[in-house]
Amino acid sequence: MTAIEERMKALAPEYIEVRRALHRRPETAFEEVETTARIREELARCGIEILPNGDDTGLVGILRGAAPGPVIALRADMDALPIQEESGLPFASEIPGRCHACGHDIHMATLLAAARLLSEYRAHLRGTVKFFFQPAEEKLGGARSLIAHGFLDDVDAVFGAHTWPDTPGGSIGYRRGAMMAGSDTFRIAIRAPGGHAAHPHKTPDPVAAAAYMITQLQTIVSRETAPLDSAVVTVGKMTAGTAANIIPSEVVLEGSLRYLLPETRAKIHESIRRIAAGTALSLRVEASVEILPGCGPVIGEDRLVDMIETAVTRLLGPEKADVLPTASMGSEDFAFYLEKKPGAFFRLGTGSDDPASRLPLHNSRIHFSEDAISAGAVAFCGIAFLATGSDLSVLE
Ligand code: NI
Repeated sequence: MTAIEERMKALAPEYIEVRRALHRRPETAFEEVETTARIREELARCGIEILPNGDDTGLVGILRGAAPGPVIALRADMDALPIQEESGLPFASEIPGRCHACGHDIHMATLLAAARLLSEYRAHLRGTVKFFFQPAEEKLGGARSLIAHGFLDDVDAVFGAHTWPDTPGGSIGYRRGAMMAGSDTFRIAIRAPGGHAAHPHKTPDPVAAAAYMITQLQTIVSRETAPLDSAVVTVGKMTAGTAANIIPSEVVLEGSLRYLLPETRAKIHESIRRIAAGTALSLRVEASVEILPGCGPVIGEDRLVDMIETAVTRLLGPEKADVLPTASMGSEDFAFYLEKKPGAFFRLGTGSDDPASRLPLHNSRIHFSEDAISAGAVAFCGIAFLATGSDLSVLE
C-alpha cells in the first residue's frame, strides 16, 4: 500500500460519515444551502481558505502549496435530484422528494477527503489547488456560475470525476478523446387550424404529421450519421390534443440530441430543421423548430488524461486503472470548464456485489460503493501533484 493510500485508509471512516450526512440532507440545483455550510465547515477544519461563490450556493477552497507553481482546479458537483429515495439505506434521504441518486454526495466526500490529504502534504505541494464545489450540475448551469464569478480565470488545468455504477468500486475509469457527449434540446411546434375528427379533409392533421416526423427523425442517426461516429436523437415528450373527436391545432415534440463531434452536432441541427420543414410541407402543416444549446462534449487533453493514468497506476495500482473503450452518451456540465481551459475527467467506479449498486444513475433504489471515496481522493491527490509539478514519489 502506498503512503497516501495508508493515510486515506485511516481517514476513510470519517469521510464515509461525511458522505452519509450529505446523503441524508440532499438539496437540488441552486438550493444547496445546508450542503454549502457543511462543506465550508469541513474545509475550514483543514485550514483551507474559502471563497463564497457569487451565487447563493457553492464555494471554492484554495490551498497554496509551499513553492510556486501552476494553479489547478479539482471539481465536485453538489446537487441532488427531485426523486423520492427508495434505497432502504439507514442513511437514506430525510427530505421527501429529494435524493442523491447521481452520487454527487460521493463526489463531495471524495473532494473533501482529497482536500484533507493535500492540506496534510502541503509542505511537498507546489502551486495552488482550488477546490470547486459547484452547485446545479443537473441543470447544467452550476459550472457557468463559478466561471462567471471568475474562479476559473487563473486556472491552468481543471479535473473532475463522476460515479459510475457499471465499474467496480475503487476503480478509476479514463480514456483519451471523448469521455461524455455534448447535448442540446430541441422543440418542434406543429400547427394547423384544427377541426372535427369526423372531417379530416377539412384541416391538416398535426398529430399525423408529428407521427411522421418522429419516424423520420430516427433516420438522422441510422441513415445520416457515419456508422463509426456516435449520435442520439430522442423525442422524449409529445404534447397533443384534448379529446378523441378533435383534430388539435398544435402538437409539440421535445427531445434531446447527443453528439461527440462538433461537425456531427451541426449536421443533426440541419437534419432536424430539414425533416421538420419537409414533413410539414408534404402534410400541409406549419412547423417551427427551436434548438436550445446545452453543453459540449467532455474531451480531456491527452497529457492531462495521461496524468490520471500515472496517478492511478502509481498510487492505487494498475489493477485499479480502467481504460474505457468508449465514451458515454450522457452529458456533464464539466464541459463548460473545458470550453475555457484544458482539463480531464475520470469515472469513479461504484459497482459492487450488491445488485442495487448496478442500477442506473438517477434510480431511486441505487446504492453506491463507498470504496470510490478513498480511491477518488487518492487519485485527485496524485493528479494535483502531477499537474502542479510536485514530486509524486512523496505520496508513494
Ligand atoms: Ni451526476
